[in-house]
Amino acid sequence: METTKNMQISAGEIPVMEPQRQFYYMDQAKKLIREREENLGRKLTAHVETFGCQMNARDSEKLRGILDTIGFVQVDTEEADFVIYNTCTVRENANNKVYGRLGTLGSYKKKHPAMMIALCGCMMQEEHVVERLKKEFRFVNLVFGTHNIFKFAELVVRALTEKKMVVDIWEGTTEIVENLPVERKYSFKSGVNIMFGCNNFCSYCIVPYVRGRERSREPKDIIREIERLVADGVVEVMLLGQNVNSYGKNLDQPITFAELLQEIEKIEGLERIRFMTSHPKDLSDELIEVMAQSKKICKHMHLPLQSGSSRILKKMNRHYDKEQYLALVGKLRAAIPDIAITTDIIVGFPGETTEDFLETMDVVKKVRYDSAFTFIYSKRSGTPAAEMEDQVPEAEVKEHFDMLLKEVQHIAAEKAKELEGQILPVLVEQVNEHDRSLLTGRLSNNSVVHFSCAADPASGADMAADTSLIGKIVDVKLVECKGFYYLGELCGSVVK
Ligand code: 5AD
Ligand code: SF4
Repeated sequence: METTKNMQISAGEIPVMEPQRQFYYMDQAKKLIREREENLGRKLTAHVETFGCQMNARDSEKLRGILDTIGFVQVDTEEADFVIYNTCTVRENANNKVYGRLGTLGSYKKKHPAMMIALCGCMMQEEHVVERLKKEFRFVNLVFGTHNIFKFAELVVRALTEKKMVVDIWEGTTEIVENLPVERKYSFKSGVNIMFGCNNFCSYCIVPYVRGRERSREPKDIIREIERLVADGVVEVMLLGQNVNSYGKNLDQPITFAELLQEIEKIEGLERIRFMTSHPKDLSDELIEVMAQSKKICKHMHLPLQSGSSRILKKMNRHYDKEQYLALVGKLRAAIPDIAITTDIIVGFPGETTEDFLETMDVVKKVRYDSAFTFIYSKRSGTPAAEMEDQVPEAEVKEHFDMLLKEVQHIAAEKAKELEGQILPVLVEQVNEHDRSLLTGRLSNNSVVHFSCAADPASGADMAADTSLIGKIVDVKLVECKGFYYLGELCGSVVK
């Protein structure tokens, strides 16, 4: 870790406590940015590029909150004064993408030497990555990890005042810093972290090594954050955690995820509650019951299967077998008949035979997922699976992967078709990107709907969409299913 000795700040006045310390550094950063602006005669621009999951997307909103506070104008291009890559490392190709993009960014920086580049997120928690950056990408100004993202303001001040690459990676933390600024992508919906880290150590997965041990936020902090979001126009929250079903177990006053959901449900003005991700091993009957009774929890469960072979599941350290998984899906469907179930599946885990793969296909056919993310196994060094023998030949993996994808897509299209003709509530998210006369939104089950606002779609075809509906929940008739999305038309007026 590098020291802060070069900073032009007298140490006596720096608060030790968080978040006060970061607010202090935000003020320092503001002054430094203003000086640069005066020299340049223009505002400074910043761009945050997010790789990976919803957790990273939420982290990027936190980075943007700080950037906004300290005076950067956010832009949608990497030709900016400050570019930040918030990286993912769950699969090898995520890392390769970052190295590739950094090359391009380096050429741009050659022409604009005052430009600053920062890298953060999961990939930075890997030692070999930081070593490579120090050797091959000396032009990067700032490197930090997942545990100290709350120190972004402080790190920006260092990057602005120190001449050399600033590297600050922590091995872990128990600290959760609340109440820092956040800039949301959407005004009406927001992710909310309820916990950080993961204790499950699935044998293929690098997340527990780069995100650290599981830590739950205090329920009162979560509730307060959601109340503030609702007061600010949010109607839908996505509760985020690597394994939300184990939320609250390690708090001084333990609370279950189902209990937390019941508390959140009481927040007036909040209309929809989503969450991800659920680990099948911890999904309780209590949660199913609460979901079944709830008016606000969306009818959607993302329930990663990973493999349908009990033998492989054991090697993956998943703590459930094929039969238990199918029984769980049965329970969910019995309690909540219209629930959408989605999943993650890995193909080509070490030692996976065609027989094992066919077990996965069998589960896919039995469950009939509304959608599934399918992944080719990627060897992550440091995980137990990377040391396992009999890694599956690439050609075989590819063949299985294609078979799986075809089946998953076929079933998903059939499932989506079942809702055709129904009138269902849609949260309107934006004007359609390709056709400005349409609005785009989501059903409770997370499916996307593009719809016209005119009662008669033929007459309304070239009308501009009614943007006042964005952020509102409206009834939409699902006129036609187009595979994984719907074309619809607005029915009557706003529901909420
Ligand atoms: N290879 C392929 N897929 C992986 N995932 C996690 N680790 C790996 C890996 N090493 C997938 C899992 C997880 C999703 C987020 O990413 O399916 O649920
Ligand atoms: Fe990775 Fe398993 Fe934790 Fe999910 S539950 S983040 S797959 S270790």
